[in-house]
Amino acid sequence: MDLFSNLPDEIVCHILSFLTTKETALTSVLSKRWRYLIAFVPNLHIDNSVFLNPEEGKHKSQEIQQSFMDFVDRVLSLQRNSPIKKASLKCLSMRDSDSNRVDDWISNLLARGVCELDLLIYLCMDEYVLLSSKCFESRNLVKLKLDSLCIGVQPDMICCSAPVVGWLAEGIVLPMLKTLVIKSVGFYVDEFFLRALPALEELVLDDVFWLWNVMDVTVSNANLKTLTVNSNHYTGTISFDTPSLVYFCCSDYVAKDYPVVNMENLVEARISLLVTEDQIKRARAPNDYLLDEGDDNVVLRFENVGKLMNGIRNVQYLDLSAVTLEVLSFCCDSMPVFNNLKSLTIKSDENHTWQAMPVLIRNCPHLETLVLEGLSHHVADNCGDACDCVSRKGKGRSLTSCPVKVLEIKGFQGTEKEMDMVKHLLNYFLCLMEIKIYMNVDIKGRDLEAIVENMKHYNKNCNVQFLVNGDLYKEWRAQ
Ligand SMILES: *[C@@H]1O[C@H](CO)[C@@H](O)[C@H](O)[C@H]1NC(C)=O
Repeated sequence: MDLFSNLPDEIVCHILSFLTTKETALTSVLSKRWRYLIAFVPNLHIDNSVFLNPEEGKHKSQEIQQSFMDFVDRVLSLQRNSPIKKASLKCLSMRDSDSNRVDDWISNLLARGVCELDLLIYLCMDEYVLLSSKCFESRNLVKLKLDSLCIGVQPDMICCSAPVVGWLAEGIVLPMLKTLVIKSVGFYVDEFFLRALPALEELVLDDVFWLWNVMDVTVSNANLKTLTVNSNHYTGTISFDTPSLVYFCCSDYVAKDYPVVNMENLVEARISLLVTEDQIKRARAPNDYLLDEGDDNVVLRFENVGKLMNGIRNVQYLDLSAVTLEVLSFCCDSMPVFNNLKSLTIKSDENHTWQAMPVLIRNCPHLETLVLEGLSHHVADNCGDACDCVSRKGKGRSLTSCPVKVLEIKGFQGTEKEMDMVKHLLNYFLCLMEIKIYMNVDIKGRDLEAIVENMKHYNKNCNVQFLVNGDLYKEWRAQ
């Protein structure tokens, strides 16, 4: 304590700013000087997870919540209008009636010039918090994260009538905002509100849903560089008008349609579409399922993904999930030519088809590196062009014109089927100079030796590397 007492104020403030505010407040009981200093800590981290205890009865938890809110009020009033840089607020079991209080806290922090604000709001069952837009006015805010957690609610219930944090984002004024992360929040917005954020560079929309019956969502911003959309619920269509976008990561449910996809400067895209097993079944056998379909035509929905692909056609690096590859087999007719694509990564699993592979490979005229994460796939009618599943006329045809130089195969297990596939790929990729095979299973030494020995006879024109658990195991050079 004595050691601390001798430290200058700025240093103590700095140390205090690493503690959560509750710890800071407890510490400050110890000395008058510290109590005085808590008023000047530049960072505020209020984390009520220490209070969170689902075992407690409802009455008890209301009491705790009341004292938590009083605590926040006390800290904020103690700090008056001293400037603040970063603040994170994890709010305990909030209710509809607490909305104004949260609004007041946000207003307080923004008025004091906070640059980074991280809000995590826990909701009780059946409760609802609405953040108003009037409190979102700041010339200093650079980074905003808004996250809600529903306690005791299944995530898939959220889109019905379960509790939500709603955000009235119309009329917000955040001219410096660069990063916006929104998770599990319902938007009460004019769908174009993102346009009003002139400095926005990074946007994450995770499990977001649009209220007021917004059927067609548009993500529109002239400046945006990176966009991550993850598990979002679209009732209708989604459009992206983001001409400066460089990085796009999409793990969304397939929307009904993609009317506008403007991403002409895109460099890297990772697409991992979410579909239900039922959607895949219906798409594979549309006639069997017509009766169940209602107004949702799954085949049409999958065909429209072609518009998304067309919008990202300028990418240099593309990463596709196994599901996405199967969805693409429904839009082969509209597949764009990926003129800039240098590196393509494709994940495979035994449940999804490779039917889009021939078209995809043919439409990458400048491909240099192909990474296949897994070789097994669901065998379907049109197999046999890029793969060797079915013996057919024109086998391997799509591969022969492909300029790919480097092939990487990940998750290789050395099965006979995989060996045949590698042989096939080595036969038909005529420009191949290097192949890297990654094995992450422990194969007994002798078997591995046999696999390597076998592979030596497949192709003598390219360098081969075997990597086991990340370490180089064997390699040989082209002859
Ligand atoms: C493939 O489907 C089966 C049966 O539905 C499932 O058990 C298995 O986990 C699936 N595999 C992958 C990689 O998703």
